[in-house]
Amino acid sequence: MASVEQLLSVLGRQVTVRAGELAPQLGVSQPTLSRLITAAGDRVLRMGRGRATHYARTRSLPALGTRLPIHQVDETGHVRPYGVLHLLTAGRHWLESETGEGELFEGLPPFAADLSPQGYVGRSFSSRYPELDLPVRITDWSDDHRLIALARRGEDCVGDLILGDESLNRFLEMEPRSAHRDSYPELARASMAGQPGSSAGGEQPKFLTYAEGRHVLVKFAGGDDGTTARRWRDLLTCEHLALEAVRAAGIPAASASTLDLGDYRFLEVERCDRIGARGRKALLSLGAIDDEYFGHRDTWTRAARRMSEARLISEEDARRIRWLDTFGQLTGNTDRHFGNLSFFVEGPKQLRLAPVYDMLPMVFAPVATSVVDRTFEPRPPTADTLDVWPDAARHAVEYWTRLAREPVLGDALREHCARHGEAVSTLVQRAPV
Ligand SMILES: Nc1ncnc2c1ncn2[C@@H]1O[C@H](COP(=O)(O)OP(=O)(O)OP(=O)(O)O)[C@@H](O)[C@H]1O
Ligand SMILES: [Mg+2]
Repeated sequence: MASVEQLLSVLGRQVTVRAGELAPQLGVSQPTLSRLITAAGDRVLRMGRGRATHYARTRSLPALGTRLPIHQVDETGHVRPYGVLHLLTAGRHWLESETGEGELFEGLPPFAADLSPQGYVGRSFSSRYPELDLPVRITDWSDDHRLIALARRGEDCVGDLILGDESLNRFLEMEPRSAHRDSYPELARASMAGQPGSSAGGEQPKFLTYAEGRHVLVKFAGGDDGTTARRWRDLLTCEHLALEAVRAAGIPAASASTLDLGDYRFLEVERCDRIGARGRKALLSLGAIDDEYFGHRDTWTRAARRMSEARLISEEDARRIRWLDTFGQLTGNTDRHFGNLSFFVEGPKQLRLAPVYDMLPMVFAPVATSVVDRTFEPRPPTADTLDVWPDAARHAVEYWTRLAREPVLGDALREHCARHGEAVSTLVQRAPV
């Protein structure tokens, strides 16, 4: 007679097992199998219905169990159920939607990776919540560590999803306190000491706060008079002006403003995934989307084409992404990675490009304590960018010219900008478009 242990061992050796195959594999009748499955409790997950029914062995996290409810916060701050994430052996997951449909993932579903602590803000997560006993460095975390973080302290992640009831309870208790801009230097110092507000990725120093009725992401630089600090301060101004340049070209960009307080410069960027104090909007990074549907993470231009061919985005959004890739290349934004574009989720497989953020000439970024001279090589159009190149190049020249005239920027930087603008201008004159 087969035992529950044998059932678990058979399931543990396979990804999933069809209902019809499980009884023969165990050498038991269907009614016996049903009894074993009931006796196994939450150690076995039943997926799908009827002939499509499969079984899998679950895994369990301390204090969290084998299933994590997923909650969704709408634009008015109301919470509704979104689905359940079931934890399976060998690091797999079954994401069950509210409608009962499900999807199997080999690791974490890509959206969960997006929510997880990362970058500058994420680095201090473990020390902010010592009670969770997570490895100090987030680079040492496993997916289970990420799930513990999300399910227990994940009340304020990017986008509109909250994993687990403990995090939901924390969201329901949360009372966003409005910060005054005068307190930004203090918040900057606190963030460097490891106590920033909530979570967002990205490597540059920043904190998140709520000010004047808006949730904002505040990047900061400075703190001393050195050339490196000066360059980072200037780059925040360049970022502010790049977002204006993008908007002038007719592409939505995050609303931002700069302010100087003490030795710091701040770039305050309005978050597009927050509405008022408690409302939220679904937001996914290009990385999460590409990981889920394609798995290439190559270039924005190629990703745009794949997404529009798969009808995930409109042709207009695809054109905008190719424009941004081209404009970024022509303005020294060497950081066009898949975390630096995001999309609103407007329905099943229906995405819309979110306002642009993190657009700046990273070609000028210091390395550790040195300001380095990197070569800037604007590239001519290619078959993929022919239709957007002339307009992007024109805006790039205008952007460089604007920077070259910006009195706030250091003289050396302005000279570089003037030269880079001339390089793009020369390319425009030579380009056969
Ligand atoms: N306006 C915005 N609304 C919502 N989320 C945003 C916004 N701007 C940035 N984010 C989120 O915060 C993350 C970090 O922001 P950003 O990319 O500007 O920081 P960074 O430190 O300069 O990044 P990097 O490491 O790419 O240089 C983004 O990857 C994105 O998930
Ligand atoms: Mg970024």
